[in-house]
Amino acid sequence: MSTMGLRADETKQEAAVLNGDFDVYQSAHLTAFEEYLKNVLLPMPAVDPLIPSMSYSLLSGGKRLRPMLCIFVADMFGTEREIALPVAAAIEMIHAYSLIHDDLPCMDNDDLRRGRPTNHKVYGEAMALLAGDGLLTHAFWMLASTRTSPERIVEMLRSLSFAAGPYGMVGGQVSDMDHRERTATRLTFIHAHKTGKLIRAAIDLGAILGGADASKREQLGLFGEHIGQAFQMMDDWLDVTSTTEELGKTAGHDSDGNKLTYPSLFGADKTRELAETEYQAAVAALAPFGDKANRLGELAKRMVRRSK
Ligand code: IPE
Ligand code: IPE
Ligand code: MG
Ligand code: MG
Ligand code: MG
Repeated sequence: MSTMGLRADETKQEAAVLNGDFDVYQSAHLTAFEEYLKNVLLPMPAVDPLIPSMSYSLLSGGKRLRPMLCIFVADMFGTEREIALPVAAAIEMIHAYSLIHDDLPCMDNDDLRRGRPTNHKVYGEAMALLAGDGLLTHAFWMLASTRTSPERIVEMLRSLSFAAGPYGMVGGQVSDMDHRERTATRLTFIHAHKTGKLIRAAIDLGAILGGADASKREQLGLFGEHIGQAFQMMDDWLDVTSTTEELGKTAGHDSDGNKLTYPSLFGADKTRELAETEYQAAVAALAPFGDKANRLGELAKRMVRRSK
């Protein structure tokens, strides 16, 4: 993930994070997560090609932003990575399922994802549907098997299932297909649900695992909502300003499809500005955590100033 350049007014503190150990810190977590993820799906030849189809989408080199958010937040509260890994994997499994279904012909009808043919192009629609179902369901098994207290497990299950379901991501995907109302209010609702809820949940699960109290969870939730908005604005912005080669998914696809997006309503430049405003609001929400949230703030910056 590349940054898109620092602004002149950025503080020395931020620069210190960049020049300091952020890359080392993130890459250590990323490597451990990739290693862990490789082994979460055991082979089951009797149901071939279900597991290969699930693995195709789970292990195809996404940016892993949601797992990193979860692990970073858990670490802020002193929870070791080993405990957070299954939780981070569960979140990424839900994300991978959402992308498989999002790409289906009955939804966005996309042929390319992360530089490779989409799941249904390789395994067919029926298997893609079932691979998504498999990832969604197995995610909750993973989460329920986390090595933490039963109370924290139940709270994580509540948080993630609410965020991923009809009141969260699934609801957002439904409103994304409804093109009747073309207003900013509607757009904010779509972004908050189809993308924001899962991002917010990734952060919340890290906080629950770390034993954060209700007010800290709420404050981090605010951060999650703003960074979720900024993230999807940038997804829409990149859709109209970048190339298929750079993105690894078909550029212009969201804007072509008569979708309600920020660029379609406000234009590309204004979208970039609005994303920056949301990012600044996200960073402001981290203020009560002081230096402890420096790495989370840096991750947020890279989520917004990205090129893919
Ligand atoms: C793409 O998410 C779908 C959205 C919610 C915008 P990412 O941009 O995180 O996708 P990967 O996992 O890195 O491919
Ligand atoms: C995806 O939004 C939201 C999901 C819940 C998967 P998009 O449809 O804009 O994501 P991309 O552009 O296909 O990755
Ligand atoms: Mg979509
Ligand atoms: Mg899509
Ligand atoms: Mg998109």
